[in-house]
Amino acid sequence: MEKITLTKPDDLHVHVRDGDYLRAVVPELARRFARAIIMPNLTPPVTTVSQALAYRERIFAALAPGQQFQPLLTLYLTDNTPAEELRKAAASGVIHGVKLYPAGATTNSDAGVTDIGKVYPLLEVLAETRLPLLIHGEVTDREIDIFDREQVFIDRILAPLTERLPELRIVLEHITSEAAATFIGEQHGDIAATITAHHLLFNRNDMLAGGIRPHMYCLPILKLERDRQALLQAATSGNPRFFLGTDSAPHGRTRKECACGCAGIYTGHNALELYAEAFAAQNALPRLEAFASHYGADFYGLPRNRERVTLLREEWQMPEQIAFGADQLIPLRAGGRMAWRLADNG
Ligand code: DOR
Ligand code: ZN
Repeated sequence: MEKITLTKPDDLHVHVRDGDYLRAVVPELARRFARAIIMPNLTPPVTTVSQALAYRERIFAALAPGQQFQPLLTLYLTDNTPAEELRKAAASGVIHGVKLYPAGATTNSDAGVTDIGKVYPLLEVLAETRLPLLIHGEVTDREIDIFDREQVFIDRILAPLTERLPELRIVLEHITSEAAATFIGEQHGDIAATITAHHLLFNRNDMLAGGIRPHMYCLPILKLERDRQALLQAATSGNPRFFLGTDSAPHGRTRKECACGCAGIYTGHNALELYAEAFAAQNALPRLEAFASHYGADFYGLPRNRERVTLLREEWQMPEQIAFGADQLIPLRAGGRMAWRLADNG
């Protein structure tokens, strides 16, 4: 296949940051995706509907002239979120999910939930209002190995949660392991998972063998080849519980290349092309459209997009770096060859 045209996709999990950074990443996001679920882990986090509405305006202001794009906002759940704020969010029409970060799990998660038991009454409000709970699925206990944190989260937190609140709508975000793919694949309720392009293309050797590559460090961390294979299988299976979420998470180069670098892989300038590469390698390009453009919209109760985008099998070179405020962004595949190119009308 030399060319593939599909319904314009949605990115069901992305970080676009704030301020000057928005202009560096939002136009490229909007070229590839008609809508995106926007993560709320700003400093300070987006915890109220009014903060989310103001953030939405700043995202609109960062679009290139004439671009059409719909940011789907989320709220950041804390131990102290008022139940009333969740009801307001559910009624707002612009908030599409509530994000659960276990406190300390990742970038700007300090205000996150310290103990799931503390927020059960809030999760009951979500179940009642049908607003999805978006979960960063990792335990944070120091004694749990970083490569096991997703699986332990599923066993200790997620499985009991689905039993206790079967009507809660859940997205397990950016799954990285065979355990997660198996768990989600076997569910019956309203539970789904997003999968990133980088977890479909890379394993932990790519990050650590022959030298440490900080721009491949993200959370949940890249795992074994066996896990990558299970994710590929899930993404290309045609099971609507698995859909696209890039988790593109830009950090300036100086915050990545240092003694304690931030977690986050930036794919905002090439995510869709990278997914095409992963699907093509599995001979599964005909399954890309449903994964990228149908299943996520269906889960979130949104109409499927009307616009279309075209990808051409045509080589191009990723830039080495991209301006990012006063810093630089090092994208995934920096300076390397890309096999698929987004046609210019995209
Ligand atoms: O790698 C990550 N980066 N994982 C996350 O969960 C957060 C994200 C970020 O905001 O940088
Ligand atoms: Zn994320």
